[in-house]
Amino acid sequence: MTVLMNGKALEQKILEQAKIKVIELKKKNIVPVLKVIQVGNDAGSNSYIARKIKSAALVGIDSEHIKLPETVSEKKLLELIDSLNKNKKVHGILLQLPLPKKMKIPDLMELIIPEKDVDGFHPINQGRILLGEKAFISCTPQGIMRLFEEYKIDLTGKNIVMVGRSNIVGKPMTSLLINASATVTVCNTKTKNLAEHTKKADIVIVAAGSPKLLKAEMVKKNVIVIDVGMNKVEGKLCGDVDFEAVKKKSSYITPVPGGVGRLTTACLMLNTIKAAEMQEKK
Ligand code: GUN
Repeated sequence: MTVLMNGKALEQKILEQAKIKVIELKKKNIVPVLKVIQVGNDAGSNSYIARKIKSAALVGIDSEHIKLPETVSEKKLLELIDSLNKNKKVHGILLQLPLPKKMKIPDLMELIIPEKDVDGFHPINQGRILLGEKAFISCTPQGIMRLFEEYKIDLTGKNIVMVGRSNIVGKPMTSLLINASATVTVCNTKTKNLAEHTKKADIVIVAAGSPKLLKAEMVKKNVIVIDVGMNKVEGKLCGDVDFEAVKKKSSYITPVPGGVGRLTTACLMLNTIKAAEMQEKK
């Protein structure tokens, strides 16, 4: 029997936990503040940010969507981030990616100071994640680890193939898996004979941005499959996994939508609360 991993239910559970934490903070007159910066009007970003703002309101976080025009200068953007970095009333800052193609900012991941980097993208946070130290853990990998916990999936000694080596999912996910004593192989869309690797895996995590990349013949029976893909194909949302076919061979699988996507936002709320707790302690 295949278990569909229910991201929506876990999202609700995490948001409830977040709500309780905010109530506790508010008793100490602390209201977590999150600023979400968007440059341009990317349709995907619009809907992701709308969900972030909605979840923040639900748990009691004070959030603001700062939408800058596509034509904004890099200087203006850097000045805004600098002022938010310095503003003691702001606990968390998120710069929604992707930025417009023409923007070429060197060391983009280093703009937001590590203490306010609720995305967990700054090299200091990425390094701490790798070392297994206290850090802001990137939201999607954090959500996936919560999913494993929720379904009592022990990662110790498991052969895990991570398809995707992005800075925002693949790399931090790999760090977390290594620290959970898994045996991790990192592949990408250019990997020669991807199936050779995925066929040996107990768990496959796909974050490659390639619709239906993982096919049924590429996995072994009873595999666990985590699909991070969010692709629009003919106007419909579709993951990186050929879901219907792969489902038949899986013991556990995440659907798209209703799987991993929702956990990213929920974990962002936890990170923002943690940022407020840490900064207000000082
Ligand atoms: N774009 C897609 N996912 C993310 C995310 O988790 N954080 C940011 N900042 N941008 C994204």
